[in-house]
Amino acid sequence: MGEIDRRSFLAASAAALTLAGHAGAAELPALGPLAKAAGLDFGAAVGPWLWREADFRAAVLRDCTAIVPEYEWKWDYLARAGRRPDLQPIQRYLAFAEASGLALRGHTLVWHGAMPPWYPAAAGRREALRLMTGHVTDVVASARGRVRRWDVVNEAVAPEDGEPDGLRRTPLLAQIGRDYVEIAFRAAAEADPAARLIYNDYGLDAPYGAARREAVLRLVEQLVARGTPIHGVGVQSHLAAADGYDGEALAVFAARLQEMGLEFLVTELDVANPGPGPGPGGAPDHEVAAVYAHYLAGVVEIPNLTGIFTWGLSDRHSWITASQRPLPYDGAMRPKPAWDAIADALRRRAAETHRLTA
Ligand code: XIL
Repeated sequence: MGEIDRRSFLAASAAALTLAGHAGAAELPALGPLAKAAGLDFGAAVGPWLWREADFRAAVLRDCTAIVPEYEWKWDYLARAGRRPDLQPIQRYLAFAEASGLALRGHTLVWHGAMPPWYPAAAGRREALRLMTGHVTDVVASARGRVRRWDVVNEAVAPEDGEPDGLRRTPLLAQIGRDYVEIAFRAAAEADPAARLIYNDYGLDAPYGAARREAVLRLVEQLVARGTPIHGVGVQSHLAAADGYDGEALAVFAARLQEMGLEFLVTELDVANPGPGPGPGGAPDHEVAAVYAHYLAGVVEIPNLTGIFTWGLSDRHSWITASQRPLPYDGAMRPKPAWDAIADALRRRAAETHRLTA
């Protein structure tokens, strides 16, 4: 099948999926319109179940303004068959998103947790640069002008590794050097000047996260000072009901980003409750929802917030153990109190946005 045939086939199949998903959507409450009224993206991580589960797809089309592939756009998945990436997963989500009026967030170009199985443990700077920038360029260029945001580099700080600047000890740091993050962002910008380029990390909202917050701020301040094309920082927001989070520290962190002209995004929100999940020892849904409500009440006050993404939409697919219930919908696609908490937060942001622009 020639390229144009494949593209038209993908577009036609995506359109068919979209029409099927919209049927009956009108009467159900939806997060998507609330997000638009708030001037934000609301999105969720999705996977191949998007194609085969009509009830999940319908919820995505109702609730989301954007989607992010959970694992199929990662280097290890795209390059699972060899050094040249299989770009079909890129094209399939592009076709569906464009047929559905959804924005795409690409996740993630460079992450120590998703290096290809063939990536060399030992490589000189020249070879490592060729591999990393080649991958970034191949993938981003294949979707040029069609992806709203890219998570360019993911989880590059680890103060516990003992590096003076808090960078995580990874093969790319060892092989390329401390400028690998800047180089990755520059390669992405050259491949798609229109994309918003994001640095993504975890533990930035945690009570224990001060060193992580400082290391990320140091990294992005250096990138900005060097004129690196970076547009925002993603806070993964994998919350554990038992651990809590430091909303004030997060607001200060976001204000530092705003001073640099950077977006603040919640990129992988879910709430892992303590214990084995609902029932004896586990937090019931209303306690999980209370964590969503309190966390998002602070988040929607952040001026440079541009999007909220949950890491999945239904417990059916969560990467957290199936016994827990960390997401807005349960396994049967019934909305839970967490869904209401997200809706309330978006309404609050929309009301504030309306007040400011009225
Ligand atoms: C996880 C996915 O949810 C899993 O399906 C996959 O097997 C491993 O990666 N931080 C990240 C995400 O940035 O890419 C990770 O996603 C979860 C932690």
